[in-house]
Amino acid sequence: MSNQVVITDVGPRDGLQNQKKILSISERAELIYALGRSGIPGIEVGSFVSPRAVPAMAGTDKLVDDLNKTKSFQTPIVALVPNLKGYHMAREAGMRHVVMVVYGSDAMAKKNVAMSKAEAEKNIEEIMAEAARDGIDVTATVAVAFECPFEGKIEPVITERIVERLIDMGAANVVLADTIGAAHPRQVGDLTTNLVQKHGFDILGCHFHDTRGLGVANVYAALQAGIRRFDSSIAGLGGCPFAPGASGNVATEDVVLLCEQMGFATGIDISELLIASERAARLTETDAQGRSTVWLRDNHKKLDL
Ligand code: COA
Ligand code: ZN
Repeated sequence: MSNQVVITDVGPRDGLQNQKKILSISERAELIYALGRSGIPGIEVGSFVSPRAVPAMAGTDKLVDDLNKTKSFQTPIVALVPNLKGYHMAREAGMRHVVMVVYGSDAMAKKNVAMSKAEAEKNIEEIMAEAARDGIDVTATVAVAFECPFEGKIEPVITERIVERLIDMGAANVVLADTIGAAHPRQVGDLTTNLVQKHGFDILGCHFHDTRGLGVANVYAALQAGIRRFDSSIAGLGGCPFAPGASGNVATEDVVLLCEQMGFATGIDISELLIASERAARLTETDAQGRSTVWLRDNHKKLDL
């Protein structure tokens, strides 16, 4: 099993879509460049969704164009697409890797994208077929993979079947998302252990929210099961506008601290990450939500990482 942990910061998408303050394109870019300077392996920079549904993500095409034109910015980027139209917009904007969401429950699919669970799966199948021809990678995220705010617990066998189907379709990665932060470490450990055994660790990833304070514990459980890819959000920004009770993602600062202290390599410079975290808080006019953020600001130089 690899010692390398690959973190994608989803703050510029999952984080910013849920803030009171809507950032300008240049403010979004400022945050993304700050993250890039930390050496983070990936950034989810935005989404190609209806600006009426998610006003904070309007102009992602312009943002991506600016990022692609900036020679000093070399961090791999992904962007979320909800449907084929979003995929086409992402392709036009120059994206080479997109994230498409499918759902553990019908109710969440309806609320989020006005589709049934099956329709979202049909959509991703079409997107993957086009993406294969276009040479674009598709990460498939299974939203509410553990629990849905409307339908309750999702049986593991449902998520397992979806993951299998997505891998058969040709997903570059499949990410299990605990959209509302309701999962607990035993549930995460059991499901990820089964999935790693069946599909290997490299294709799988996890995306946790910290609603009930178990985000880092869930990352730990997934790490123990062999998962090495995680989504997290700078300063713990986040939430889903369509999932009641969803709070911020597990903070990137917390995940990096956990991994590095346990001897995993993230390739991330903590000093630069903390600068990005301060920038995220300043730009959104919120306090950093990471559990370790305040401690790290004063003490990270003492850590021998
Ligand atoms: N990007 C931008 N606009 C889009 C779009 C996309 N990916 N997909 C559809 N639209 C436009 C349509 O062109 C149409 O525009 P018009 O009214 O000016 O003609 C309008 O949105 C409605 O289209 P329709 O197909 O009826 O969609 P809908 O109203 O059922 O909304 C989504 C569906 C998917 C577009 C919308 O719910 C959405 O963008 N959701 C995003 C959810 C999200 O980001 N959640 C958080 C992340 S998981
Ligand atoms: Zn999320």
